[in-house]
Amino acid sequence: MINREYEAWVRDFEAERERRATVGDPAWTRGAALDPALVRSLQRFQVGEDGDGSALIGKAERAGDPVYAAAVRLFVAEEQNHARMLALLLTAGGAGTLSGHWSDAVFVRLRRLLGLRVELLVLMVAEVVALRYYRAVRDGAPDPLTAEVAGRILADEERHVPFHCRRLREGLSPLPAPVRRCATAAWRALLAGAAVVVAADHGPALRHLGVGRREFTADVIRSSGPLAGAMRTGPGRSPAPAPDESSPVGA
Ligand SMILES: [Fe+2]
Ligand SMILES: [Fe+2]
Repeated sequence: MINREYEAWVRDFEAERERRATVGDPAWTRGAALDPALVRSLQRFQVGEDGDGSALIGKAERAGDPVYAAAVRLFVAEEQNHARMLALLLTAGGAGTLSGHWSDAVFVRLRRLLGLRVELLVLMVAEVVALRYYRAVRDGAPDPLTAEVAGRILADEERHVPFHCRRLREGLSPLPAPVRRCATAAWRALLAGAAVVVAADHGPALRHLGVGRREFTADVIRSSGPLAGAMRTGPGRSPAPAPDESSPVGA
């Protein structure tokens, strides 16, 4: 079934791709002064952003909406661009990338086992943790190149969250209300657990950025309530419609 709303998302992702091409990359040659704790932290996030997304794309294609699948392919390309920019930032700071990290291996294996709906719930855990993380890097990194890269990634993540929320709302809507409530409560619990693990694992980097572990965890947990509500019932956010069209917002 084709949901016309995803045409607006495809346009949004394509417009963003064009904007990226016009703006060009940050000036990598100016170099980056990276704190060693931040290097270790960014290396782990770089691994998390990296991946071909083929499992997610395959599931989106099998879901039977080619427009949604096209939007997912554009989403995956943005995540790959995050991995590319983080790798170049690490290079600019004289550091390398990791070939893998246990947390990413667990995450990827877990997601492969799941159907599209549950995979998106798990993916949303990573996206929401990433929102707080990149905000901390953008606002707290003393190095201007690092802050710029984090700001660019954060702007993308802020669009990804409502995109997945929209699809999840559609995916959860056929379920009875108590099941939907259970699903979003489980999602919030998983997110809280992930926030605790990330705060512990990235504690020294967060301290360098001026964010305490407790503050990081509390902020992530606080942000999860409205998102869970949006997945269950909320209107979600749609990208701006093309000028010649009325709003494509669906039910
Ligand atoms: Fe990302
Ligand atoms: Fe994302």
